[in-house]
Amino acid sequence: MPVIPASAENIARAALVLREGGLVAFPTETVYGLGADATNGMAVAHIFEAKGRPHFNPLIVHTAEIEDALRLGLFGAAATQLAAAFWPGPLTLIVQKAADSPIADLTTAGLATVALRVPFHSVARDIIRQAGRPIAAPSANRSGHVSASTAAHVAADFGDRVGLVIDGGPTEHGIESTVLDVTGTEPLLLRPGAVTAEEIAALIGVQPRAHAGDSDRPVSPGQLASHYAPRAAVRLEARDVRSGEALLAFGATIPACDGLCLNLSSSGDLREAAANLFAALRELDRVDALGIAVMPIPNTGLGVAINDRLRRAAAPRS
Ligand code: TXA
Ligand code: MG
Repeated sequence: MPVIPASAENIARAALVLREGGLVAFPTETVYGLGADATNGMAVAHIFEAKGRPHFNPLIVHTAEIEDALRLGLFGAAATQLAAAFWPGPLTLIVQKAADSPIADLTTAGLATVALRVPFHSVARDIIRQAGRPIAAPSANRSGHVSASTAAHVAADFGDRVGLVIDGGPTEHGIESTVLDVTGTEPLLLRPGAVTAEEIAALIGVQPRAHAGDSDRPVSPGQLASHYAPRAAVRLEARDVRSGEALLAFGATIPACDGLCLNLSSSGDLREAAANLFAALRELDRVDALGIAVMPIPNTGLGVAINDRLRRAAAPRS
């Protein structure tokens, strides 16, 4: 995996890799990010594969310009004020997705909200601008490892799993951006970071409420539960389709099925299956099936995160 300096030529090369659906690690003012085209589900699936995360969590979407970010979400008064004051910079705002959002379902893990950030770092902005599309970028570290503040950390963590690492020197802050959910009536601080709660309160006149819990498993008000669980009962490891059931298939050989039959990947490609997962769950929830039969999915690589999500979908609700 080449680590190359942030020259004009290499920035152009990085933008091309991103446009073609590849992965590029690049510096931001907080930590290094592992970027992919946020509108390309297969490219985003590749991020999860490279990170080795055992579950899908929503990723931050980065744009080069503030106007580009504003078009991707619905911004209320406080969100608009925060964007104007802290962008470009280390603040991530969670807002409702715009109605015509081009962002892939996997990027937002099927949520109706999207995390947006306009980084300050000129290398990040140049790469994103030249790529010409919003870039999903979690911190460039393997799952469970600490975030990378140098290109060497990124290279050590990923080995050959990433196409390109752009070296922009050590990052300025070394900690991730502040994540603020502004979708509800009061702002929720999901992750403390370089922009402080005091700075936010001073600007909007409201103290953000700290969110206790695991920031990798957000519990944004009223959103996750419905996405984790379709209304119909989900039956995992299904090898047949029972009367009234819809089918969520995987692979080339599928059981007879006369209701809605969706195949996550008829070629058995886990990356394609991950890219299709959230749209499929939503589609299955829309039809009035008595139940949803889900074929077995290999529990390796991206299959681990796919199975994690399907198990949640199958979990009984109270
Ligand atoms: O500084 C940073 O933010 C770095 C650089 C690369 O920009 N990125 C980063 O991304 O730290 P990541 O994926 O490691 O962290 C994103 C955080 C996660 O805690 C995730 O759960 C939360 O943002 N998040 C993203 N979208 C969300 C949403 N729609 N609702 C709630 N939380 C969300
Ligand atoms: Mg992270």
